[in-house]
Amino acid sequence: MFNYVIKGNICYSKTSRELCIVENGYAVCENGRSAGVYETLPECYEALPQYDYTDKLIIPGLCDLHVHAPQYPFRGLGMDLELIDWLNTHTFIEEAKYADLEYAQRAYSIFVNDLLDSATTRACVFGTIHPQATKLLMEKLEQTGIKAYVGKVNMDRNCPDNLCEPSAEHAFAETEQWINDTSSYENIKPILTPRFIPTCSDALMEQLSVLQKKYHLPAQSHLSENLGEIQWVSELCPDTANYGEAYAKYGMFGGGCPTIMAHCVYSGEEEIALLKAQGVFVAHCPESNTNLLSGIAPVRTYLNMGIHTGLGSDMAAGSSLSIFKAMAMAIQCSKLRWRLVDQSLEPLHFEEAFYLATKGGGAFFGKVGSFESGYEFDAVVLDDTPLLHPQPLSVKERLERLVYLAQDQHIIAKFAGGRNLFER
Ligand code: GUN
Ligand code: FE
Repeated sequence: MFNYVIKGNICYSKTSRELCIVENGYAVCENGRSAGVYETLPECYEALPQYDYTDKLIIPGLCDLHVHAPQYPFRGLGMDLELIDWLNTHTFIEEAKYADLEYAQRAYSIFVNDLLDSATTRACVFGTIHPQATKLLMEKLEQTGIKAYVGKVNMDRNCPDNLCEPSAEHAFAETEQWINDTSSYENIKPILTPRFIPTCSDALMEQLSVLQKKYHLPAQSHLSENLGEIQWVSELCPDTANYGEAYAKYGMFGGGCPTIMAHCVYSGEEEIALLKAQGVFVAHCPESNTNLLSGIAPVRTYLNMGIHTGLGSDMAAGSSLSIFKAMAMAIQCSKLRWRLVDQSLEPLHFEEAFYLATKGGGAFFGKVGSFESGYEFDAVVLDDTPLLHPQPLSVKERLERLVYLAQDQHIIAKFAGGRNLFER
C-alpha cells in the first residue's frame, strides 16, 4: 500500500475557522491514510520513503462537489442567459452530442486531462443521459486515480427529443444496467442523478427511488438556483411546500441517501431546515451563480447552522475547473451579499473558503479533506516561487495569496487516497 512521508509547509483545516500550519513539518501517509502531521519526524517513521518538498506548501486535495463533464467544450461561452434559456440554448445542444461515442471520446479526454492537472482530488460529476458515454467518462477518470462519484443523468420531460429518456421504465432499465456495469471501479462510483425537478417526471422520480432503495446509492441534483426555475417547480409540484420536498418525497434528499444539492441560492427557512435535518450537502457554486445571473447563496447562514457545505465549479455555468477560483469567488460574492443584501451576515474569511474546499466538501466522501490522523491521504503540493514578491511573507500569507493566484502550473505534485497521481 501507500506508506511514505511528505516534508513541507503543511496547511489544513481543523474547523471552518481553525487553520493549522506546520512549517517544514512531516505528514505521514500509512496505508493511504494520514498518520498525523509532525514538527519533527517520530523515529518509528524514519525508515519510510520521503518526498522532500521543503519550503513548498502542502494542502489537502480540493473537492469539487458539482461539475458537469460534458459541458467542458463550451466553457467560457454563452454566458448571456439565465438558467432555463441557457439550458435550452447551449447546454442541451452540447449534451445531445454525447450519443456519439467518438465525440464523447474526444471531449472527455480533454476534460479528464485538465481535471488531472488541477488541484482537485475528489469530484461529484454529472455525465449525460447516455450510459455508454458515461461509462467511457468513468473509465477515463478511473485511470487518473482521482476519486469521484459520476452520474448518468436522468431526464424525461421539458427537454429536446434528442436529449430525453423515452419513458420512466426505459430510464429505469438503462440506469440499472449502468449501475451494474460501473459498480466495481476502485476510484469511481456511480451516483443517482435526476437532473432537476423540471426535467424529471413523477414516474421517473418514482423509478429512481426504487433504484435508490435497491442499490443504496447516493444522489446529486440541483436546488433553488434561479427564481424562474423555483416558480416553475412550484407549478409542477403544487402539493409540495418547497422545492426540496419534491426530492424528499422520493427519498432523494439526505437521510439514508447521502445527497448533494447544488446552489441553494433561494432556499427558504423551511427548505433550509430540511437540508439541515436530512444532512444534505450544499454545493456552493459562486461563479455559476454569477454567470447565470442566479444570485448569491447565503453560505454564511449554512456555515453558522452547521449545514454540510462545500464548493462546486459547476462547469460550464462556471468557466473554470479551479476550486481555488471557487474559493476566491465564494469570498468575493459573500462580500457583495453583505454590501447589497444583508449586513447581518458576515462575509467569508479565507480560512473558511479553504475549509469549504477541503474538509467541508470532503466530508461527502468520508474522512477526506484534512491531514488529521485517519483522514484519507489526499494532498496537493504548491510551488509559489514564480509569484515573486519583494517582502517577506508568512506561510499563512502565501496560502492566502494562492487562493487568488494559484494556477495549475503551481501544482507540482498530487496524491489521492495515498496514491501519487503525478509529480512534475
Ligand atoms: N439545472 C439543471 N441542469 C443544470 C445545469 O446543467 N447547470 C446548472 N447550473 N443548473 C442546472
Ligand atoms: Fe449544475
